[in-house]
Formats: sequence, C-alpha cells, structure tokens
Amino acid sequence: MSDNSLDIVIGAGSAIGRALIENWSRKGAQPILAVARSVDSLAAVEPLRVQTLQCDYSEAALAALATQLQEQSADIRRLVICNGVLQGEGYRPERALNQVKTSAMERVFEINTFLPMRMLASLSPVLKRSAAPRIAVLSARVGSIGDNGLGGWYSYRGSKAALNMMLRCAALEMRRVNPAAKIMAYHPGTVDTPLSQPFQASVSAAKLFSPARAAAALDKVLNGFEVEGDLAYLDWQGQPIPW
Ligand SMILES: NC(=O)c1ccc[n+]([C@@H]2O[C@H](COP(=O)([O-])OP(=O)(O)OC[C@H]3O[C@@H](n4cnc5c(N)ncnc54)[C@H](OP(=O)(O)O)[C@@H]3O)[C@@H](O)[C@H]2O)c1
Repeated sequence: MSDNSLDIVIGAGSAIGRALIENWSRKGAQPILAVARSVDSLAAVEPLRVQTLQCDYSEAALAALATQLQEQSADIRRLVICNGVLQGEGYRPERALNQVKTSAMERVFEINTFLPMRMLASLSPVLKRSAAPRIAVLSARVGSIGDNGLGGWYSYRGSKAALNMMLRCAALEMRRVNPAAKIMAYHPGTVDTPLSQPFQASVSAAKLFSPARAAAALDKVLNGFEVEGDLAYLDWQGQPIPW
C-alpha cells in the first residue's frame, strides 16, 4: 500500500455513505475523503482519519477535486459514489405513462446518471494512475431491464439502467488504461434511508436493512468482488443481477 492511498466516498451525506464512512473509519485502513453537498451531516462521523469536502458537484468543483488529488499523487484504493434520488420537490416515481414529465426525467437522470458519470470523468486521470482502485457506484436492482416484471418508476428505473450502460463503457475503457481497476454497479438492498422511507410500507422488517448493515455488506462485496475488465452488477450478497 502506498503512503498516498485513500478511500473516497462521494455523496457522503447519504445514509448509506455516512454508515460506510463510520464502518471504514472504525477499521482505520487508510485516510477517507468524504465529499458531500453539505458537510454538516458528517459532523457526527468525522473522527479519526476522515477529511470532509463540501462540494456543489459543478464541473469546476469536480475539476478542482481532481487537481487536488493529482497534486497529492493520490492512490485511490476504494471509491464509492452514493448520489441518487427517487423523488423530490414536484416529482414522484411515476406509476403510469400519463405521469411522465420531462422536467422530472431530466432531474432524476441528472442526479442518478449524469452526475456519477461526471464524477468518474473528472477523476479518471487519478483512477488511471491508482494502483488497483475498487469502484462502486450505487445503482439499484430496479435498473435491471431483465428483472423488470412490474413496470412503473420510469425515471428512476431508466436512470439506473442508463447508469449501468455508461458504467459498462467506463469499465471497458478503464481496462485499457488501468487493467487493475475494478468497477461495479451495486444494489444495496432496501435500506432504511430518506430515499426509501416513503416506500417502506410493503417491505417486511426482515428485508429492510439498517444503513449500518448495508454499509457492512457493501464493504464486504467491494473488497471481494472479481471482474475482468467488465462491469460487475452485483447485489448486497455479491450475487450478479441480470442486465
Ligand atoms: N435506500 C434504498 O433502499 C436503496 C435501494 C437501491 C439503491 N439505492 C441507492 O443508494 C444510493 C444512496 O441512497 P440512500 O438510500 O442512502 O439515500 P439518501 O440518504 O436519501 O441519500 C441521497 C444521496 O443523493 C444525493 N443527492 C440528493 N439530491 C441531490 C442533488 N440535488 N444533487 C446531487 N446529489 C444529490 C445526496 O448527496 P449529498 O451526500 O451530497 O447530500 C446523497 O448522496 C442512491 O444512489 C440510491 O439510488 C438505495
């Protein structure tokens, strides 16, 4: 392990991201950089070796982050991108075609698809030079086209399916420039977070994971998964999800 090795969580204000940072900082493997729109929510999980960075995710802010990491010759060991929305101000998951709206689709795709890809694009020079980066981008099982037997949730499903496709492109490109890099699109299970809160009524207690449990599963899968140049699309048990 190099002296400059680093774990990074982006979207670190998410319930899953915060729990992962707690998990990692307890183990103290290497320094952690936690990137979020607001670092206030990270105050409680900021002991030990966690450095926080407030970021508005603009092109300029992501470029500045990449420059900072390049200047310190950062060796990214693990990178987890958590950002994702299911609903927000003025939009809800669509149940039928007549609820599909351009403004909502644009919003959901911007945060769930374009933003993680902009992050990877900005960080790609650092990822290329890192020894063996393991990268997880939070996708969702409902982004699986093959597994979609229910329909609905047009924007969320579509944004995660598009994310998976673009991640696969990134994994194939990364194979050429850094064969040791491993990328996965990850489904954390149904986790008790603000994102899932309005939709938990039909989920049994046994299938609703705490953020801490979800973080432990993510840590295990991220550290152990194997993939040769391709994108892994895995769930919290490390099981492949059909595309
Ligand atoms: N909870 C579940 O059951 C479940 C199931 C499947 C997949 N997932 C996926 O897991 C990931 C984490 O979700 P969570 O459940 O932990 O949700 P959460 O606590 O509600 O976190 C929301 C995340 O989305 C980001 N975000 C929200 N609005 C944003 C905006 N306007 N611009 C940029 N970023 C924004 C936040 O970024 P900041 O940290 O910068 O605030 C945060 O990282 C998501 O990608 C979600 O799709 C969750």
